[in-house]
Amino acid sequence: MKHLVLVALLAGLCTAQYGQSLDDLPKIVDNSTVSPSIEKYVLPALPYEYEALEPHISAQIMRLHHKAHHQAYVDNLNKALVELKEVEGKEEMATKEKVEALEETIHFNRGGHINHSLFWKGLAPAGSPESILQGDLEKAIISKWGSADEFSTALFRTILGRVRGSGWGWVVCNVDTKELSFGTTRDQDPVSLPQLVILGIDMWEHAYYLQYYNNKQNYLKAVWAVLNWKEAGERYASCLKHSATSV
Ligand SMILES: [Fe+2]
Repeated sequence: MKHLVLVALLAGLCTAQYGQSLDDLPKIVDNSTVSPSIEKYVLPALPYEYEALEPHISAQIMRLHHKAHHQAYVDNLNKALVELKEVEGKEEMATKEKVEALEETIHFNRGGHINHSLFWKGLAPAGSPESILQGDLEKAIISKWGSADEFSTALFRTILGRVRGSGWGWVVCNVDTKELSFGTTRDQDPVSLPQLVILGIDMWEHAYYLQYYNNKQNYLKAVWAVLNWKEAGERYASCLKHSATSV
């Protein structure tokens, strides 16, 4: 790790600062062990301490979730990308099965890296300035759902009804119609255009089981208390400003 040079790959007009695609996430150039040097994705630091979301989300969960689970997605993505490059460089090794297996591994871990990067930035300590719903996003939510309470009730119902097993619950904004809606994805599948992520909630058991056991409703209430509405509002502003061709 001694010769790591940080390079920020912030591409695109709209999604870059919000990390909604893999190209938006930072890489480092690792020239310490191989030649030529390779680029690797890195685990992003949390914008708060592991304890900062207590009592809603325990430090134990946050530490494990970030340092073990998210780190594993990053490591497995980097490993599979290197392996795919090696396989593609040697025709005799590039069997259809091998390439497909690596692409599947990349798809899964790429989603895990994108989804968790969005999730961390979408949370903030309860009672912090970031935790206040306001501005255009508040107006849009009240206009469509009537109140923040009705919005959360409908969001939780959608997530609990649709996510079976491991997956994610989302509030998304369509960059073409500017409409807000709910969505869910399986496993680590990410959200894709024309939808942009406004809020994401990790519904894998590793996100809640140590604290909430099988009570997903209580976990959702806990996440609701630590949502970063400032970040969500900025993502919504970005959605209002751009179209699918400009992100
Ligand atoms: Fe997770």
